[in-house]
Amino acid sequence: MLIIKLSATPSTNSFLKQWVQESKAHESIAVWAEHQTEGRGRMGTKWLSKANFNLTGSVYIGNSAHHQNNIFNLNKQVCLAIMDTLEPLKIPELRIKWPNDILSANKKIGGVLIEPIIRGTQMTGVVVGCGINVNQEKFDASLPFATSIKSITKQNLEIEPLFESLAKNVATAVRLEQVDHERYLDVLYKKNELCSFKTKDGTSFQGKISGVSTGGKLIVTHDNGDRKLYKEKTLVFTAFQH
Ligand code: BTN
Repeated sequence: MLIIKLSATPSTNSFLKQWVQESKAHESIAVWAEHQTEGRGRMGTKWLSKANFNLTGSVYIGNSAHHQNNIFNLNKQVCLAIMDTLEPLKIPELRIKWPNDILSANKKIGGVLIEPIIRGTQMTGVVVGCGINVNQEKFDASLPFATSIKSITKQNLEIEPLFESLAKNVATAVRLEQVDHERYLDVLYKKNELCSFKTKDGTSFQGKISGVSTGGKLIVTHDNGDRKLYKEKTLVFTAFQH
């Protein structure tokens, strides 16, 4: 796999999307930046990352059309590839907060932004962007739930080998057609634990996450027994208003 290192770029996802579109690449390519100046998060948010302290990188995987009818399966594979990369580092309480935040000990250490590459009506590949907080120990006051590997484990890590391992794991996982749904559920944050939630319209309730639907919605069993499905950004944990 070609791995490109940049000293600075607005967004590694945007860089890679443009590269792939111009070069008509079909193989896997990975790019990471020491400084990402305009990092993008999901749902139009910004991804803030201190230069030289964290992992900000993206992987293009061509010929991943087997996932085009269910992008959430691809999302699951990517999350599990990140778990595979981080598990050897002995990070405590590593979990996936639906749909794809990476948490340790109830705080966010990473996030994923997946962008399909479409040619005509076909998805010809996908750009998977990963932001992982590695060595940064102080975070903006606007990010009270952010943490890093160093804050938690006290170990200082080199970004480059971590990205190489992540890129390899992501490319391998996305190429697999078989999805390990069970493992995703095993590492799902707060699964089967009673939690307080708030819906988009301001209603508070208590319930338990019981799973994720095939289409990628969160299944929550309310304390009155009702089972409801929620789309991204329609529900927040009251204790984790990210
Ligand atoms: C999220 O949690 O909202 C997703 C964050 C994804 C951030 C990564 S950093 C590398 C890649 N380039 C971007 O502009 N975003 C992703």
